[in-house]
Amino acid sequence: MANTKIAVAGTGYVGLSVALLLSQKNDVKALDIVPEKVGMLKEGRSPIRDAEIERFLSNREEMDLSFEATMDPAEAYAGAEFAVVATPTNYDVDTNSFDTSAVEAAMDAVRAVNPSCWIVVKSTIPVGYTERIREERGDEKILFSPEFLREGHALWDNLHPSRIVVGAPQGDPEARAAAERFAGLLEEGADPGERERVNADGTAGIPKLLLGPTEAEAVKLFANTYLALRVAYFNELDTYCEDKGLSSAEVIRGVCLEPRIGSHYNNPSFGYGGYCLPKDTRQLLANYRDVPQNLIQAIVDSNATRKDHVADEVLKRVNKLVYQGTPKPLVGVYRLTMKSGSDNFRASSIQGIMKRVKAKGVPVLVYEPTFEGEEFYGSEVTSDLASFKARADVIVANRWSDDLSDVAAKVYTRDLFRRD
Ligand SMILES: NC(=O)c1ccc[n+]([C@@H]2O[C@H](COP(=O)([O-])OP(=O)(O)OC[C@H]3O[C@@H](n4cnc5c(N)ncnc54)[C@H](O)[C@@H]3O)[C@@H](O)[C@H]2O)c1
Repeated sequence: MANTKIAVAGTGYVGLSVALLLSQKNDVKALDIVPEKVGMLKEGRSPIRDAEIERFLSNREEMDLSFEATMDPAEAYAGAEFAVVATPTNYDVDTNSFDTSAVEAAMDAVRAVNPSCWIVVKSTIPVGYTERIREERGDEKILFSPEFLREGHALWDNLHPSRIVVGAPQGDPEARAAAERFAGLLEEGADPGERERVNADGTAGIPKLLLGPTEAEAVKLFANTYLALRVAYFNELDTYCEDKGLSSAEVIRGVCLEPRIGSHYNNPSFGYGGYCLPKDTRQLLANYRDVPQNLIQAIVDSNATRKDHVADEVLKRVNKLVYQGTPKPLVGVYRLTMKSGSDNFRASSIQGIMKRVKAKGVPVLVYEPTFEGEEFYGSEVTSDLASFKARADVIVANRWSDDLSDVAAKVYTRDLFRRD
C-alpha cells in the first residue's frame, strides 16, 4: 500500500500526529533526538496522551500502518520525497521572536542526507520566515503548512481537519505543485467521511488552501491570536462582573445567545495559556513592529492583567484568613495543567498566578500527580490528594474537578461552566 516516502522530524504533538496520519497510505519514518521517545515509539507506546495516537500505535499491524521511529538521520531522510519539520519554536524574550534554531537544525540534518526532497515546515514560525530562509539558504524546496491541532486531540484533529493550508511562492510552479501534492496527502489521510461534509460557507469536503508562504504563516498567527482575543474578552468580562458583584455566568449566557457571538469557547479562566497561544500572540505582536496596531498589544496585555486580578482575588482570601487568625495560610494549587485532561503544563496560566502569589511571600503547595519531582520553582509538589486538601487553606483551580467537591468552600476558580 505504501507509496510516497515521507520523513518527519520531531515526534511531539504535531510531528507524531502528522506522521501517523500519513502512515496510513505512505511510508513514514519519524525521527526524534530524544532516545526515550523513540524507544517508546518503537515499542508501540505513545510518549503523549492522545486517544487516537494511542489507538493507531497499538494497532499498527492491524491497520497496516507503515510507520517507523528512528534517531538515525540517514535512515529517516534518505530517499524521502517530503521531510516534514515539526520541532519546537519557543519564544525567545531576548530576541523578541521565535527561536527557530531547532527548525534549522532539522533542515540541516535533512539536507546533509537528502539534498533534493521537499521540506515542509509544520512548526509555527514568524510571518516572513519561509521566504527569508529560502533566500538565506539558497534552498527553494522549502514549503510551510500551518498546523491547527489541539493538544489531547492531535490526531483526531488531523483526521477531521478544519482546513488544510499549504504555502508555496506564487511564482514557483514546481513549489506550487509540490504544495498541492502535500495537501493531497494530508487530505487522503483524513477520515473518508470528511469528503462528504458541508462547511459553514456552503462548500463541501475539507477546504484546501494553497497560499503564498507568508500568507500561510499569517493565517496561523492571526488564527491563534483571534482565539486568544476571545479568551481574553470573556476573561475581562468576568473580571468586571466579579469586581462589581454581577453574575458573570448569566451575563455570558445572555451575551452569547447572540448567534453572531455563539455560546462556545466562552468559559472564563485564569488567562489563555498552553504552549501556543502565549507565544504565538507575542510573535504576531513582534511582527507588527513597523505597523500601527492597538488590539494585538491589548490582547497580550490583557492576559497579564487577568492574572494580576486572579492573584489579587487569591490574596484577598489569604488576607481574610490571616485576619481571622490563620497566621500563615497555605495556598494550594490544584494541577499545573492548562485544561482538565491535558498531559503537560507548558506555559499554563496557573503558573502566572503561582508566581504572583509567591512574590507576596505566601507559601504554595502544588497538587500535580503527573509531576516527577518534589519541588516546582521552589514550591512543594504532592501527589497525595487527601493531604493536599487537608493542608491547603485556599485552593486555586483553573479548572474545576469533582475531586474538590468536599472542599468546595476553600476553592477559588472561575471555571463557571465546568468545561474546556
Ligand atoms: N502543540 C500544539 O498544540 C501545536 C499546534 C500547532 C502548532 N504547533 C507548533 O508545532 C511545533 C511543534 O510543537 P509540538 O507541540 O509538537 O512540540 P513538542 O515539544 O511536543 O515536540 C517537538 C519534538 O521535536 C523534537 N526535536 C527537537 N529538535 C529536533 C531536531 N533537531 N530533530 C528532530 N526532532 C527534534 C523534540 O525532542 C520533541 O519531541 C511548534 O512550532 C508549535 O508552535 C503546536
